[in-house]
Amino acid sequence: MTTVPKAKVFPVSTEVNDLDHLVIGGCDLVDLAAEFGTPLYIYDEATLKAQASAFRTAFQSRHPNSKVLYASKAFINVGLARMLSAQGLGFDIVSGGELAVLRAAGVPAADVYFHGNNKTPLELRDAVDWGIGQVVVDSFYELDLLNKLSGEAGRKQTVLIRVSPSIDPHTHLLTTTGVLDSKFGFPIETGQAKEAIELALAAEHLDLKGIHFHLGSPIFELEPYEEAVTRVLTFASEMRELGLDMQEFSPGGGYAIAYTEADEPPPPSAYAEVIVKALKDGCAKYHMPEPRLIIEPGRSITGPAGVAIYTVGAIKHVPGVRTFVSVDGGMGDNIRPALYGSEYVAVTADRATVEPDVTVTIAGKYCESGDVLVHDAQIAAVTAGNIIAIPASGAYAPSMASTYNANGRPAIVMVADGKATLIRRRETYADLMAQDVI
Ligand SMILES: Cc1ncc(COP(=O)(O)O)c(C=O)c1O
Repeated sequence: MTTVPKAKVFPVSTEVNDLDHLVIGGCDLVDLAAEFGTPLYIYDEATLKAQASAFRTAFQSRHPNSKVLYASKAFINVGLARMLSAQGLGFDIVSGGELAVLRAAGVPAADVYFHGNNKTPLELRDAVDWGIGQVVVDSFYELDLLNKLSGEAGRKQTVLIRVSPSIDPHTHLLTTTGVLDSKFGFPIETGQAKEAIELALAAEHLDLKGIHFHLGSPIFELEPYEEAVTRVLTFASEMRELGLDMQEFSPGGGYAIAYTEADEPPPPSAYAEVIVKALKDGCAKYHMPEPRLIIEPGRSITGPAGVAIYTVGAIKHVPGVRTFVSVDGGMGDNIRPALYGSEYVAVTADRATVEPDVTVTIAGKYCESGDVLVHDAQIAAVTAGNIIAIPASGAYAPSMASTYNANGRPAIVMVADGKATLIRRRETYADLMAQDVI
């Protein structure tokens, strides 16, 4: 087997075969394109398992009382939920829909934590009735509502309070959440977090188990975690006078991945080292028992495992300006470049080891000028029919997909040991019209 191009950003099982095609999980990407069509999302089971295990080991080896929850928003469906649950992961959800998926997958309710800044009464009722592990309360409205709903259900719902520690993790403004000017969480700085703890402790039908925060995503630096853990532990120590017994502590997710070869994300062990040390130091300083540690990686579990493949169609040369290579997907299956200016790389999957000899703009098929997947992609030259692979596409691409321009959303396969299992079929024209009342 030959060296894999841009191997850093491809799944661990990626190879190149004698036909010079990229191979993932033992499956030739050209064969997958022929069998399932394009655009197609391919998840490498080996990478999913490796990432899940890396986070579990990194945290549990340093703090055995740790639990890894996969943040479902990065991408979830029934097949993936079963697979990750079997790897010992719990789940974080942010909607009744994600709850329904996990429930259908047979995930234990106790392993699920419910986040969100505006959970609806219906969603909260479903969660309470299901016996969900924790509701992470995010507003005074929710505190009141959940207390009422839990009382009606004859339950005492376990909860965490989401605080906002006023720490900037230096990531994209649109994905920054732990600063004062954010819709998420009770700010510590304004005294509202203290008030929320007081109310939660007094609520008859709530059982306050601890504190959660989430800074944003992706976070390439370790210092924001250290600073935030320290600040929130100081806050928790002060809340003891109100009666808080912090049994759980959750610094959320946000762990970075490499989208391009220039990206240098810290390994899970580096995040674990900083977070666990800050937790242990804070607990020792304030003479608090060490709580259960809950972490919520999303992007870093599914992101590196997913590769999107597309078929090249029209190619437009604008002399002296640029060459547009249009593919059969785009912003409908991956909105991240248009929404956040996210950068990706591309490889010509059926000319895998040919040295990149052209610089092109890989454009989608949607009716927006901003529908570009990769700017200035350096690839082996293509003509119509070639297959383009974009790695590191597993998180926040299929989960944010839309049916814009009435294009169906792509099929998704999981690959391992030379076998591709369809975990989501391609959306058909009939699917697109299924909810229309005619
Ligand atoms: C509360 C919470 N936890 C976890 C995550 C997952 O973040 P990431 O996928 O970057 O790990 C998010 C992302 O928005 C979040 O809001």
